[in-house]
Amino acid sequence: MTTKLTVLVAGATGMLGTKIVSALLDKGNIDVRAMVRSLDDSKEENRQKKGAMKTKGATLIAGDLMQPETLLPACAGVDVVVSAIGNNEVTVPGQKNLIDAAKQQGVKRFIPSDYSVDYRKLDYGDNDNLDKRKEVFEYLQQSGLEYTLVLNGAFMEFITYMPLFDLKNQIFQYWGDGEMPLDLTTTDDTAKYVAEAVSDPDLANMALEVAGDTLTSKQLKAIYEGATGSKLTEKSLGSIAEMQAWITAKKASAKTLNEYVFHQYMYAMVSGKGKLDTIGNDRYPHIKPITVKQFLSKGNS
Ligand SMILES: NC(=O)c1ccc[n+]([C@@H]2O[C@H](COP(=O)([O-])OP(=O)(O)OC[C@H]3O[C@@H](n4cnc5c(N)ncnc54)[C@H](OP(=O)(O)O)[C@@H]3O)[C@@H](O)[C@H]2O)c1
Repeated sequence: MTTKLTVLVAGATGMLGTKIVSALLDKGNIDVRAMVRSLDDSKEENRQKKGAMKTKGATLIAGDLMQPETLLPACAGVDVVVSAIGNNEVTVPGQKNLIDAAKQQGVKRFIPSDYSVDYRKLDYGDNDNLDKRKEVFEYLQQSGLEYTLVLNGAFMEFITYMPLFDLKNQIFQYWGDGEMPLDLTTTDDTAKYVAEAVSDPDLANMALEVAGDTLTSKQLKAIYEGATGSKLTEKSLGSIAEMQAWITAKKASAKTLNEYVFHQYMYAMVSGKGKLDTIGNDRYPHIKPITVKQFLSKGNS
């Protein structure tokens, strides 16, 4: 007789977390515990999401990452914790609290909220948001808990929001020679891979690197034009070193992170520094991740 795995999802009402809960339930052999900040949510959108999760078979449990006392009961009897919390002031202290609670409750595996380029290869300062992932990962390693990282490059849903596209002016702009391959995956496919990663014995203290597509900037432009029928003017914005200088100058004068952080993400991609080196889609041949062409052809631009 095999015992069912119990998986706790933190950030279950989030954009990605909701999809992870659903993908875990689709596996059919996992008890899914969806952690939510409040069982009695005032946000209508969250109420609907929670209702759908419950109907599909998830158990809801209250827990707040900034209230450590709520995390011990949430982690009791859990085999794997999957974090899908967003990027904000909670990312580091909240996930550290969750790691502590998971450790105390004998959780077997922890998947932190990464879902990004390979931030392990970046230096501190390269990306203010990814610095938080580095800090959490270091804490996780020190905790001695078994971990699995899920790295998927950029979410395909955000392609046209990347600084590569200036659609208002019908411009496609790039840095370097435009030939560096960029890794892109949809949130749905990322969630499916997370559902595999929770129970894959070969992923103990490993990263699962996946990509629905890997395209250079110039290929991305051509595929966008083919899928949408529009023609973009190509513009070189200079070398990677010039991009770095632009980010440094912008950061020095910026009032908000959003003024430069998207360029920092882009830098990690177009420089190749955050490139996924060992894409392991083949581990799960039943998952057929969608390509950028398929994604854009469905009218998703
Ligand atoms: N690679 C990419 O291109 C890309 C793009 C976007 C996001 N991501 C990454 O994907 C991950 C998930 O992001 P997302 O956009 O799906 O996040 P999101 O939609 O902002 O969701 C955040 C979740 O965290 C929960 N949360 C916030 N504070 C909490 C607390 N104190 N205690 C418990 N839960 C708390 C929220 O609950 P409430 O509903 O109660 O607020 C919500 O469920 C992040 O690591 C993000 O950086 C990657």
